[in-house]
Amino acid sequence: MDKKKFYVTTPIYYVNDAPHIGHSYTTIAADTLARYKRMRDYDVFFLTGTDEHGQKIEKAAQANNENPIELADRMVERFKNLWKILGISNDDFIRTTENRHVKQVENVFNEMYENGDIYLGEYEGWYCIPCESFWTSSQLSSGLCPECRRSVEKIREKNYFFKLSKYQDVLLEYFEKHPDFIRPESRRNELHRRIVGGIDDISVSRAAVEWGIHVPMDKKHTIYVWVDALFNYITALGYHDSERLKRYWPANVHIIGKEILWFHGVVWPAMLMSLGIEAPYQIYAHGWWTLEGQKISKSLGNAIDPVKITDTYGIDTYRYFLLREVPFGLDGNFSYDALVNRINCDLGNDLGNLLHRTLTMIEKYRDGIVPEAERISTEGNELIERSKMLNDEVELAMNNLQFSKALEAIWDYIGLVNKYVEISKPWVLAKEVSAGEKLNEVLYNLVESIRIISLFILPFMPNTSDEIQKQLGLSSDDNSVKNKITWGGTKPGTRVCKGNPVFPRVEYSTSN
Ligand code: MSP
Repeated sequence: MDKKKFYVTTPIYYVNDAPHIGHSYTTIAADTLARYKRMRDYDVFFLTGTDEHGQKIEKAAQANNENPIELADRMVERFKNLWKILGISNDDFIRTTENRHVKQVENVFNEMYENGDIYLGEYEGWYCIPCESFWTSSQLSSGLCPECRRSVEKIREKNYFFKLSKYQDVLLEYFEKHPDFIRPESRRNELHRRIVGGIDDISVSRAAVEWGIHVPMDKKHTIYVWVDALFNYITALGYHDSERLKRYWPANVHIIGKEILWFHGVVWPAMLMSLGIEAPYQIYAHGWWTLEGQKISKSLGNAIDPVKITDTYGIDTYRYFLLREVPFGLDGNFSYDALVNRINCDLGNDLGNLLHRTLTMIEKYRDGIVPEAERISTEGNELIERSKMLNDEVELAMNNLQFSKALEAIWDYIGLVNKYVEISKPWVLAKEVSAGEKLNEVLYNLVESIRIISLFILPFMPNTSDEIQKQLGLSSDDNSVKNKITWGGTKPGTRVCKGNPVFPRVEYSTSN
């Protein structure tokens, strides 16, 4: 039977700056969701990429004495390198300077012009270069950009405008008919209120910016970088005519940071409506990380390179921390103390030790061979029943992008298995000749619970999941076992292969 499709995206990142925790957060979240859906047998398409045009990149390149494309080429390598280190499983990487993108952006701009949704006008107002955003005087906050609180510049130029105001009612209707369109709910309500309050037409070209895609019918202008960027979600699929587009569009979810929700939740669907293209199913706006209580920014000099963090503290541990520490959608604070604590407690003590002591007991009491469970005790049965419940809990949480909730449920289960060890006391059973059968059951149940756990953590911590399965003696090509989240996948007689602890203890390193 044909698999169900799932299309997930990250924002495409500006190339004026090196990737930091914030960028890695969105990408890790999208990767975890993509891996989860693949595990559930979806045909997944996962897209990320880079946003390379506009005034901000133009200026950054100038300051560096290089061409914008040289800057972009250099930074793209930084992003790609980080995604490789973090185990990001994207299916494509779109750059807005690629021909496949440029050509189609020219086409859609033309189409919107021809259908009367784009017209020439005069823009007078303010522009924030770091946010690449237009603001009216009344929107400014004490004369500064209301989004990033940096200074804005006054501009007055002939611009092309998109008739966003025309879409107010259609958008409101769309919001009503698709209650899940914007998540979380609080952000949906906020955005809804803004639309009800009225929306103006928006400027969609810049006369003063050279580094961009030229307006096809008026080459003195370049297309506003946000219009250019948003279309990546369909140009990467081969808009306007390709099998890939037919297969994967509309996107199931665009994962973004909360600061760019207006563009994704209002401008993007309106432009799609203008072109007669379906809007994405969902836009999920997550919160922002601060670092040790401070906003992360280049000017503050605190934008730590995730490559460095993962060098010291590990990759899967970093992935786990970001998705476990803060409920997706809320703001959070990154601190090394909290990271070290999660690694040593949740990962080292709860999960790492469980694996290590289980394998040690199998080696000691059963020569490294997983025994057969010939009976099922009440406690054993509880492990089985709870693993089924866990399956439902994880599915529900993941479908709502509640990563921390899914992890909490998995860790509740790990807690139960640890309790099971304490209650069953295999080290006591090992001393009683008549308790052999009981010991077999306990050891089998432990291995099987850990196998199930290794599957649930796979989307979050792919390397660890692999390592645990290796130590359990499961060969990675044994898909029938690996991908089954039902009890009983471990074959009795399997030889375990104890290795080093999967989460060695870490200390807070002051060199950070
Ligand atoms: N180029 C635009 C997006 C265009 S999408 C069609 C852009 N790029 S960006 O490089 O500034 O990246 C912004 C995204 O990075 C945010 O939406 C968020 O996903 C992530 N983050 C950047 N800093 C962040 C934090 N401090 N915390 C969490 N995520 C943040 O905007």
